[in-house]
Amino acid sequence: QFADLEIELCKETCQKPDPDKLIFGHTFSDHMLEVKWDIDKGWSAPKICPFHDLTIHPASKVLHYASQLFEGSKAYRGYDNKVRLFRPDLNMERMKRTAERSALPTFDTNELVKCIKKLVEVDKDWVPASLKSSLYIRPTLIGTEPSLGVNKSNEALLYVITGPVGPYFPTGFKPVSLLADPQYVRAWEGGCGAFKMGANYAPTVMIQRDAVARGCQQVLWLHGSDHQITEVGTMNFLMYWVNKNGEEELVTPDLESGLILPGVTRQCILDLAREWNTVKVVERKLCMEELLEAIEEKRIKELFGAGTACVVCPIESILYKDQKIFVPTDTSDKALSIKFYNALHDIQYGKVEHPWTTLISET
Ligand SMILES: *Cc1c(COP(=O)(O)O)cnc(C)c1O
Ligand SMILES: *[C@@H]1O[C@H](CO)[C@@H](O)[C@H](O)[C@H]1NC(C)=O
Repeated sequence: QFADLEIELCKETCQKPDPDKLIFGHTFSDHMLEVKWDIDKGWSAPKICPFHDLTIHPASKVLHYASQLFEGSKAYRGYDNKVRLFRPDLNMERMKRTAERSALPTFDTNELVKCIKKLVEVDKDWVPASLKSSLYIRPTLIGTEPSLGVNKSNEALLYVITGPVGPYFPTGFKPVSLLADPQYVRAWEGGCGAFKMGANYAPTVMIQRDAVARGCQQVLWLHGSDHQITEVGTMNFLMYWVNKNGEEELVTPDLESGLILPGVTRQCILDLAREWNTVKVVERKLCMEELLEAIEEKRIKELFGAGTACVVCPIESILYKDQKIFVPTDTSDKALSIKFYNALHDIQYGKVEHPWTTLISET
């Protein structure tokens, strides 16, 4: 409950880094939020306290069976110097669904949003005053019961850390090259691909390294014997093309399969595209074969990834069956992906007021 929130402030604040020299995930703000849970007492009072190391028992379930999940969102300091959160309700609902799937305790999402708003307010000086930077917010939930049985954790810790991050593309949009190798699978039917749990990401690191070794920057995740296209690295996949009937269409894999992480950025892009109503919007299964055919017939206009880190990430090539296939890329203001980027940036940085943002502080 937000009403029970305790706040213990730091005695001294850390030096703020140069916003142009930030490396993602290396710098953390002065404070963190912590909430403990156990099966008997439920959630204890949330606490904002100085950033500190955790002390956990070596048998804690998180350390053995990856009873863990996380979220990722940002706070933005806008044109008017005000700090805003962007659709935090969607992140918290996703976090709650992942907690259910992980047999970790669930919580009141509105109460957690209120606690996070307060945390960002306490560390508002850490939100960079730059229209290219932001404060990354990382809520985490771990199972801390000190016992080795593969079972529900009867103790848990929810914590939130934050830190300033720079632009994903410091020197303008740089389209990426992808490795699409069907021997690798990120998610499968009945699995956990739709949930942001840590256990989904450790197994991808080796594959990402293989992509780099083969001259690509990221992985295009395929699934099944029909080489279904699912996601790009840790981003959702979108395709802007002319379909077989000659209609301009924005296509992205549907969520029903359970293979796709329901991204907030994906949702925003679909919402904007439906509102603008300039292209048809379709959520459906998408396979390599029809992509290759469309490239051949010059019906592809843009391929791009979408996620909180980059907003949109244009794609320039795909290495598939030992062949490098080039796709048209456009990073001018006329490109649809860049229109989405600009529209979301204007909302996030308060150039246009929009119900998707929540104000944190006036300064
Ligand atoms: C986090 C994530 C995304 C993007 O989600 P956003 O909410 O837009 O940041 C897409 N795919 C995967 C696998 C992810 O982990
Ligand atoms: C799992 O936990 C439940 C409830 O605490 C208990 O009844 C059950 O025996 C445990 N199972 C294992 C395999 O430890």
